[in-house]
Order: sequence, then C-alpha cells, then structure tokens
Amino acid sequence: MRTALLVPAAGSGTRLGAARPKAFVPLAGRPLLWHALRGAVRTGAVDAVVIAAPDALIGEAARIAAEAVGEHPCAVEVVPGADDRAGSVAAALAAVPSAEHVLVHDAARCLTPPAVHLRVLRALRAGAEAVVPVLPVTDTVRTVEAGLGTPTSAGGELLAGSLDRSALRRVQTPQGFSREVLFRAHALHHEDPDPAATDDAGLAARLGAQVVGVPGDESALKITYPLDLRIAALLLEDPQL
Ligand code: CTP
Ligand code: MG
Repeated sequence: MRTALLVPAAGSGTRLGAARPKAFVPLAGRPLLWHALRGAVRTGAVDAVVIAAPDALIGEAARIAAEAVGEHPCAVEVVPGADDRAGSVAAALAAVPSAEHVLVHDAARCLTPPAVHLRVLRALRAGAEAVVPVLPVTDTVRTVEAGLGTPTSAGGELLAGSLDRSALRRVQTPQGFSREVLFRAHALHHEDPDPAATDDAGLAARLGAQVVGVPGDESALKITYPLDLRIAALLLEDPQL
C-alpha cells in the first residue's frame, strides 16, 4: 500500500459549541467528516483511511466513511481517539503499518480541495520528508509583552513588537510524511512530550526533518467557531468547488 490518510476526528468541538462532536456536525446535510474524506478520496490517490473518532461514535464514523469512500478501492478503519490531537493521530498511525506515505488531515478542514492533497503528495513523491500546505499571512501580527498579554491601566493588553509577516505562513492540513518520519516523530513526542506542538510537522521538525511548504487553499479553512461553519456553507454553494 502506498498512501494512507489519517483523519483525527475525535475532538469535542468546544469552540464550535454544537450539540455533537465537531466532525459529526452537519454541513449542507452531511457531517464535516464526510466532506473531509470526500475531498481526499476524490484524488484517487488514497489507498487506506484510518479515522480516530470519539469512543461513542466509532460505528457512526465507519458508516460515514463507507458512504464517503463509495466505489473507490480504499480500505477504511476507525480507531478510538485520545485526549489530545497528537494522541489521536498516534492511535490512527498505529493502525497503518505498511504505507509508504501518510497524509494527516483534520476532519475540521472539511472543504480542502483534492488539488491540495495532490500537491502535498507530489512533493512527498519527489522525496520530501514532511510537507504542509501554507498560505500567506494577511493581518499585521504583533507579539504580547512577555508572552502573557499583560493588562494595562488603559484597558487591553500591552503589546510588544510586530513580526515581519512576509516571513510567516499559515499552515493547513493535509500534512504529508514518509510513514517512517511520522512514526519516529510521534515516538519522540510520546517519550518527551512537547506541550507547544500543535501539528505533526512541528513534531517531525524536532527530529531534524525539513518541512516543505506547498500552496494551500483558503477554502481549506478550519471549522473552529460558528462563523466558520457559515462560511463553509456559503463556499459549498459555489458550483466550482
Ligand atoms: N482532534 C482529535 N482528538 C482530540 C482533539 C482534536 O482527533 N483529542 C481532532 C479534531 O476532531 C479536529 C482536529 O483534531 O478534526 C483539529 O482540532 P480542533 O480544530 O481543535 O478540534 P476540537 O479539538 O474538536 O475543537 P475545540 O478545540 O474547539 O474543542
Ligand atoms: Mg482542539
């Protein structure tokens, strides 16, 4: 087997505040997880999918995946997720022993176009060890004083310097790795956890892996707050998507 897709879908979606865990919240009548899987499977390049789901929703995740995969020749497995995202990815990774390349894709980035998956895979197949889709930063970015957001007597918080945004990138998923690199990255994180790590490329970089950026896509936004869900519903009305 060449390419496996790992989908962390075990989060609770606290910031979205919906009645169900986020990956199972409907968007245009289908769960976010279905949309996320569909965009990946439509590439025709995914041989196996492993989903990390909340314990109580394993059967439901398997049904959603079967529907999203449809006629594509793609194996599906669902494993119980963990308390944090890295743990959920590690649990899914443990279920794919034989893939050459692994894509890790958040269920929350449900409208990621197939072309983004393909760009990541192309770079992996050209020899990169770790690949992430990136976008430029459009806002000015400042740091907070002492990293703490110290309150001021004028209200608000004290800000420190501006960062050069031309040197910054926003990082999306899918993030692609050789299976070997991702396995070693999670083994290191398990032995010596990095509390600041928010993605798999950050864990791989700790091993010394070079992380390559390829163009991401604004429609691969992460559904975090209710506004994101409204934006996603508008994007789905676009017949080009
Ligand atoms: N995730 C996971 N296991 C966890 C936490 C998160 O598999 N223990 C997954 C989520 O389901 C999501 C992705 O990781 O697809 C990115 O996480 P995030 O957007 O933070 O989702 P939630 O953790 O569900 O949301 P919140 O932080 O608002 O609770
Ligand atoms: Mg979270």
